[in-house]
Amino acid sequence: MTRTVYVNGDYLPEDQARVSVFDRGFLMADGVYEVTSVLGGKLVDFDGHMVRLARSLAELDLAAPATPEELLAIHRELLRLNDVTDGMVYLQITRGAPADRDFAFPDPAVTPSTLVLFTQSKPGLADSPLARTGIKVISIEDIRWGRRDIKTVQLLYPSMGKMMAKKAGCDDAWMVEDGHVTEGTSNNAYIVRGKTIVTRHLGNEILAGITRAAVLRFAREAQMQVEERAFTIDEARAADEAFVTSATTFVMPVVEIDGTPVGAGTPGPVARRLREIYLEESRKVAI
Ligand code: PDD
Repeated sequence: MTRTVYVNGDYLPEDQARVSVFDRGFLMADGVYEVTSVLGGKLVDFDGHMVRLARSLAELDLAAPATPEELLAIHRELLRLNDVTDGMVYLQITRGAPADRDFAFPDPAVTPSTLVLFTQSKPGLADSPLARTGIKVISIEDIRWGRRDIKTVQLLYPSMGKMMAKKAGCDDAWMVEDGHVTEGTSNNAYIVRGKTIVTRHLGNEILAGITRAAVLRFAREAQMQVEERAFTIDEARAADEAFVTSATTFVMPVVEIDGTPVGAGTPGPVARRLREIYLEESRKVAI
């Protein structure tokens, strides 16, 4: 079956979808995106993703090409057309395609933004074997720009970080700035010390994960202690547990950091419990 994607108002077979070579997303990474997970054919935390999208757009003075209601309808139509049960929907908005390459932003009245959505089907997404073994991470310096709270499509350094991890025989990288962990290449980072879950406080240095918000809410509801503060790689290596969260991995245990096993070197009880709660609760409220 050929995948159907969405481009600027049209649902098209993926090999017929086109974006201009002058698109500022292509030339300048001038765009933002969202990834919403799909479980049982329904969208997880859709409203949270739309709130963050609106904020990313506003921070970059980028006009929204559609309302959240219209975007919901497009998400659902793509799921239907592509028969997706488990997986994700990717959405990207760029500052459109002006007549020429120019550093100055184009007039939005003349150059409308580009809206692209597509699905990725991942049957059995919630039963990832990696969640049973946990992942290994390395630490790398965080040399990204200073507005990581905006979900832009500038993903070169995170991609390089993934490649550094792969080369080291690991799964992902945690980025470190001024001696403290910011986040993973495409996820938020956590450690567990005793009964306390520690994750970096929000700010310009990290993305405010939608999964992070839900997981911290569920943790507090389950009477777990949560501390939102920066932590070092040494503190992480000495922690009882570590894990990451994102829309594509949910809650994923981390069992090794820079070659040092975390805790027993196997997924810990807090991460496993939070994954269970997250999946259970998210399925209930998915739309
Ligand atoms: N990435 N931090 C970064 C740098 C991310 O790229 C992501 C998500 C997160 C977690 O955010 P959320 O819980 O809202 O998914 C944190 C997505 C999944 C991606 O780029 O594919």
